[in-house]
Amino acid sequence: MKNLNFLFAGLFFTIALPFGGLLLSSQIQLGSLSRAPAEEGGPLFPAREPGLAIQGRAVYLELGCVACHTQQVRPAGQGSDIARGWGSRPSVARDYVLQPQVLLGDRRLGPDLANFGARAKSDDDIHAMLRDPHSAGYSLQKPDFAYLYVLSADGKKATPTERAVALVAYLKSLRQDYASPEAKLKQ
Ligand code: HEC
Repeated sequence: MKNLNFLFAGLFFTIALPFGGLLLSSQIQLGSLSRAPAEEGGPLFPAREPGLAIQGRAVYLELGCVACHTQQVRPAGQGSDIARGWGSRPSVARDYVLQPQVLLGDRRLGPDLANFGARAKSDDDIHAMLRDPHSAGYSLQKPDFAYLYVLSADGKKATPTERAVALVAYLKSLRQDYASPEAKLKQ
């Protein structure tokens, strides 16, 4: 009986110690990361999201955009993300310190959106792309989100709902176009 207790204690520590080590090592590496200025004395990045963008993040989650879009730009040697213009530098852990849910994603049917705000055109263009992507020149793989818009009686004018407005504010807030201590901008 005495040996059995010893065996269970041994088993417990064999599992608990490496598991605790895993948790602790990531806490030591990343737990104290905070915002940093792009240049000495400058404003801190990542910038805080406006309230509307925070609402838009919930819409993005609800509609499952993360199933087709990632938000992580890979370094130049590990893929063509930067060459494709998806970012001007690789994403680093610090970029996500303010985000309550990190929507990195793991499948790319569409472009990476980590730095979409920096290349976004006008609000009207983004609404047109969400409402009717095929007429806006996007491929058939891009689903439409026409139910986020209310059509006028004659069918000519589409007014964005509150969810569409918040979603566009969120998409425009996605920016990784500032230098970070871990990643300089592409020259
Ligand atoms: C079924 C997969 C799929 C889903 C779900 C999806 N998208 Fe897309 N998205 C695409 C594809 C594919 C493209 C690229 C189309 C093209 O370039 O012709 C795209 C393009 C985009 C672009 C333009 C990116 C750029 O660099 O120009 C934005 C912004 C975008 N999607 C936002 C969203 C949002 C917001 C949602 C959720 C409401 C969403 N997408 C859901 C597949 C998807």
